[in-house]
Amino acid sequence: MYRRAVYPGSFDPVTFGHLDIMERASQTVDELVVGVLENHAKIALFSVEERVKMLKIITKDLPNVRVESFHGLSVDFAREQGAGFIVRGLRAITDFEFELQMAQTNRIMAPKIDTIFLTTNLEYAYLSSTTVKEVASYGGDITKFVPEYVAKAVIAKYR
Ligand code: PNS
Repeated sequence: MYRRAVYPGSFDPVTFGHLDIMERASQTVDELVVGVLENHAKIALFSVEERVKMLKIITKDLPNVRVESFHGLSVDFAREQGAGFIVRGLRAITDFEFELQMAQTNRIMAPKIDTIFLTTNLEYAYLSSTTVKEVASYGGDITKFVPEYVAKAVIAKYR
């Protein structure tokens, strides 16, 4: 059976923590479709097009990873892509309540789509896109948090 999964998120910007989840998830399934949410409710640093471009660049060496944008529900995106799984990363217990609620809601809406949680590598357990933006906004070094191409793009936004 061909296993396709989607990995939805904001990725504003993508971090080493996200990349770690993508690498590990892509080894678990046949195809991983990274979905960048066009979320008009959230004010993003990067446009969806910029986020998709960054993701494509940093996943270029992962042959079974594809990057798309979507709007609306993650389960609808998964259905459109013909995916049976939604991948999410869990960093800490603080993520758990929201992620469980979202997974259970998704399960009611789409019983045939399962959520797979991967625990974030401990090296990146502290890391979030929000903290990356915070550090960069004060001129701090973000090269330990995000790939080089992304770091340059973030720094350019705050210049
Ligand atoms: O990277 P994020 O911001 O933690 O990703 C959250 C995301 C995009 C996965 C979540 O907000 C989402 O799935 N949004 C789309 C709307 C939806 O499907 N909500 C879940 C039902 S409550």
